[in-house]
Amino acid sequence: MTTRRPLIAGNWKMNGLKADAQALSRDLAQRVNKAGGIGFDMLICPPFTVISTVVGAVAGSGVAVGGQDCHVAEKGAHTGDISPVMLADQGCQFVILGHSERRADHGETDAVVKAKAEAALAADLVAVVCVGETESQKDAGQTIDVVASQIAGSMPEGADAAKVVVAYEPVWAIGTGRTPTVDDVAKVHAAIRDEIAKALGNDVAAAMRILYGGSVKPSNAKDLLGLDHVDGALVGGASLKAEDFWAIAEASA
Ligand code: 13P
Repeated sequence: MTTRRPLIAGNWKMNGLKADAQALSRDLAQRVNKAGGIGFDMLICPPFTVISTVVGAVAGSGVAVGGQDCHVAEKGAHTGDISPVMLADQGCQFVILGHSERRADHGETDAVVKAKAEAALAADLVAVVCVGETESQKDAGQTIDVVASQIAGSMPEGADAAKVVVAYEPVWAIGTGRTPTVDDVAKVHAAIRDEIAKALGNDVAAAMRILYGGSVKPSNAKDLLGLDHVDGALVGGASLKAEDFWAIAEASA
């Protein structure tokens, strides 16, 4: 029997100015403090510009902070980019990599995601590696093949359960209010765990957290988070409201 502590991660995407970032993250930290003990880990991934605001607001609460992307290099001539070392220096413990919006908007391939994840591990960050099929791939019955090949291509060298979290986010479920059936989520998560086992062995696969993301909200959280191979959620829109994000987190415990 494996015990994987749920991870409830909020991906704020390109949302949050200083005042609302501080209010939202402070609200969440207060809820964690008030609860005393919680049965899940909580992670907030704000835009780069408010990382230090959020780190300050959650200090001492145990809420972790992460970036939404990083460069492969530690430093250098890369205008506009942020390195994993810089994220760690700001107090981040995690970084989301290979989100479908980055794969689509910035042409990130599996090889790029893998290189970034290796750089993140070298900077002592936990890499949250995202995979997921598009709607046309789903309609063509290719979901499992697509995510298996993304896992095989994106998993960093030296990955283990303490250093990597996988997030399954069907592209067509992101921000649409649509989700796969619980049966489909269960099947894909089980297939992802099999693929991780092929790459890293059964013990690592059994311990690695696999999050579900895509239109997670308080009303569907219990069903999704109750599934065997679903070890938490990567939440977009609903992570921008403390009450909703907290309700999702509580549904995991
Ligand atoms: P939504 O929860 O808004 O669908 O976004 C999911 C997501 O992309 C999280 O990374």
